[in-house]
Amino acid sequence: MLRTFFSSSITKPLTAQKTIHTGVRAFSTGFVLRQAQTGDKSYTHILTETRGKVGLITLNRPKALNALCGDLFVEVNEALRSYDNNDAIGAVVITGSEKAFAAGADIKEMKDKAFIETYKSNFLGHWAEMTEIKKPILAAVNGYALGGGCELAMMCDIIYAGEKAIFGQPEIKLGVIPGAGGTQRLVKAVGKSKAMEMILTGSVNLNATEALSLGLVSKVVPAAELVDETVKTAEKIASMGQPSVQMAKEAVNKSFEVPLSAGLRWERILFQALFGTADQKEGMTAFVEKRKANFTNQ
Ligand code: CAA
Repeated sequence: MLRTFFSSSITKPLTAQKTIHTGVRAFSTGFVLRQAQTGDKSYTHILTETRGKVGLITLNRPKALNALCGDLFVEVNEALRSYDNNDAIGAVVITGSEKAFAAGADIKEMKDKAFIETYKSNFLGHWAEMTEIKKPILAAVNGYALGGGCELAMMCDIIYAGEKAIFGQPEIKLGVIPGAGGTQRLVKAVGKSKAMEMILTGSVNLNATEALSLGLVSKVVPAAELVDETVKTAEKIASMGQPSVQMAKEAVNKSFEVPLSAGLRWERILFQALFGTADQKEGMTAFVEKRKANFTNQ
């Protein structure tokens, strides 16, 4: 199933086709046929595309401003795992529409849930699966990144923003709090006072310039250029040796989890481990021979 996922063309959403509901997922007769014929994998709530060595995931629930329903996140996780398992892919970009990256978790889907149901099913727990992905994930954020949308962006490794991007954690206005990392990752990204202000008021949002100045995002570009610009950076990352890219990601993420001494030890072990790779030999030899390195990801 996963092997059949990759394609050089955008896969069409199933909503445009006749659907047969099988449990939580909707599959279409057209989908089964098309998959068999072309090797594409189609999804209901996202579009997927490969551009060179970059996998591009576009959230695609335009009428709901890409509200993150449970099934959408199942699909995002599946697409990410597929890219992670594909040797031809070196990095992934997640984006939404020009109006909304994602306007948060799906309020209509969760409004009637009872505590015991959320607790027993570990509601939203599956969102965190994307933090297990080894390859770098870049977020290209246009428009609203609110609540879970902001949290999804912060689960990515790099965030680029379009000029009209808006970041916020409005959950308090719904009688809840951020539930997918907002109280933890936002503090680390923008500092305690600004994070508290955003989370406790629910209405102090960051525009793209503010997000850049606080370090939440690393670049702001015109909305229409955002995806291409983000893919360009992803391509640069994907052109490096994959073992070193993935270990670099792991080492940086370690800094959020462990004390400095343990993080430094982890970093040195990974650095030393890379001397067991062909890419280290190639990278350093290429430097000495004054030529471009040709990494083989070995
Ligand atoms: N869930 C479900 N539906 C949503 C949604 C959400 N988070 N956000 C927007 N929509 C739907 C709206 O209900 C509306 O649908 P209908 O046409 O059927 O009424 C459609 O998207 C368009 O939305 P608006 O008409 O509201 O568009 P707008 O341009 O006037 O406003 C907005 C845009 C400011 C983003 C506004 O939609 C909004 O405030 N959305 C909710 C934002 C929010 O509170 N997010 C946090 C969710 S909770 C969460 O994420 C928990 C967590 O930590 C994981």
